[in-house]
Amino acid sequence: MDRAVVSVSTAELSSWLRNPDLMKFPYAAVVREYHHVGKHFVPPELLRMLAEARTLLPSLHGPWPHVHTLASFLDTALDKPDQRYDYPTYLALSLLQLPGPDDPLEQALFARPRCDRLIAQLVADALAFELAAQDGRTTLLPRMRPDAAVVGKRYRHGLRVLRPVLGRMALDSGLTEVGPADQARQACVAVRGDMSFAERRAMKLSILPVDTIHDEYLFLRVLQAFETTFALLSTHLRGAIAALRQGEVDRAVYFLDGARTALEESGPLFSMLATMQVEAFRTFRQFTEGASAIQSRNYKLVESLCSMPDPGRIDSQAYFSVPDVRMRVLAGQETLDEACAALLGTGVPEPDRVRLGAAMESFARTLARWRQTHYRLAVRMLGEASGTGYTQGTPYLAAVRDLPVFRTLQNGVPGGGLHPNGVHANGNGNGLHENGLHGNGENGLHADGEAVLEADKETRRAP
Ligand code: HEM
Repeated sequence: MDRAVVSVSTAELSSWLRNPDLMKFPYAAVVREYHHVGKHFVPPELLRMLAEARTLLPSLHGPWPHVHTLASFLDTALDKPDQRYDYPTYLALSLLQLPGPDDPLEQALFARPRCDRLIAQLVADALAFELAAQDGRTTLLPRMRPDAAVVGKRYRHGLRVLRPVLGRMALDSGLTEVGPADQARQACVAVRGDMSFAERRAMKLSILPVDTIHDEYLFLRVLQAFETTFALLSTHLRGAIAALRQGEVDRAVYFLDGARTALEESGPLFSMLATMQVEAFRTFRQFTEGASAIQSRNYKLVESLCSMPDPGRIDSQAYFSVPDVRMRVLAGQETLDEACAALLGTGVPEPDRVRLGAAMESFARTLARWRQTHYRLAVRMLGEASGTGYTQGTPYLAAVRDLPVFRTLQNGVPGGGLHPNGVHANGNGNGLHENGLHGNGENGLHADGEAVLEADKETRRAP
């Protein structure tokens, strides 16, 4: 494929630059060009014109949502030439408008439906792309197309993510077909029919793969859906902390259970991603260096809202990669552990203490399984290669996969579990074993033999 071909986008953009109008930005032409060559290979002339468009932003008048969209789009489109390409810009997170840690706490109750919509749209869009490619209706990202059997698995796992979400959105009544491809088609129609213009636009603009390989589409959408889940989790954890502060154990349990359910429901996303062709991943990841989920602000928010990270971890790549979360932690962001300990200090009835402990334990176990599944997937996809976030790669993940989620829990009951010096039991302060590997060995199962998430089975089954 000739990456140097310059399409009509340059002409459309240069005409727009002569007469800039916020409402008429040639998004479709620009995105087409990005998709044609891959974001890493966009011709300098187009980049130069986009940078010029960005200089015009302050002088453009129009509705704020349109200004925001154009600014966010240019933020993600120009990250590579600006040399600030990273995980948030790779995923175009600013276009997705996830809930954030500074949102008013009252919004915690609405976070679930908000995130449901987004997860449904992201996963349905991933399925729509697979369907279009299988039907021969698209030439988008034409390299290394997966075979029909692999795509069939994607439909099945995608539908497993979608079903509970569409159920809550009352969009599941049309899922009548039995075959996964036909049912995926029905799901896509249902989700698309429910989307606003702004949501459709956000979907179209938030996918700028670095290369032209089919599987990168799935990779991006799965990462975006996980980010949405983490954003929901951190919102729920903030809700739980506030509830504990007010002595409302029921409400705290409600938020913790909601967080656990959301994380459990995200499990099939790993199964979906486990169908990614290893060679395809290794090919496009040559151009993703510098963008790693170690920069996931939402994941580190979840971790640090549960419990104060060890000093060694705060002063490591783990938190240097998310400077604003690190600042929050250093500024004394309240943790669930602390809120729990403070509440217990006031004397909590035993049944409440047990219920709270069970909810915390259950959430912690689900997060531990998430880490384990992630680790196994990374081993399969990456082998010995180092990470794109400047770590050694999987040895880093092996070391951090069983960091304690909460420290106040002892035998499933909160209280009395706080380590006297606040350091994780393995003693070196950063959760790393001396040999860089976790002590439970490399068999991928927890020490208690508990099966890992369904996705993990998929990674082991996959050829
Ligand atoms: C092909 C699949 C994947 C591979 C090979 C992979 C690999 C890695 C590696 C090597 C790291 C260590 C940091 C680095 O140097 O990059 C990492 C960190 C991380 N990954 Fe993944 N990953 C994959 C999929 C995912 C997915 C789907 C998510 C969901 C958002 C995710 C979330 C994370 C998070 C949150 C971290 C930071 C963990 C921490 O700092 O404790 N990864 N990943």
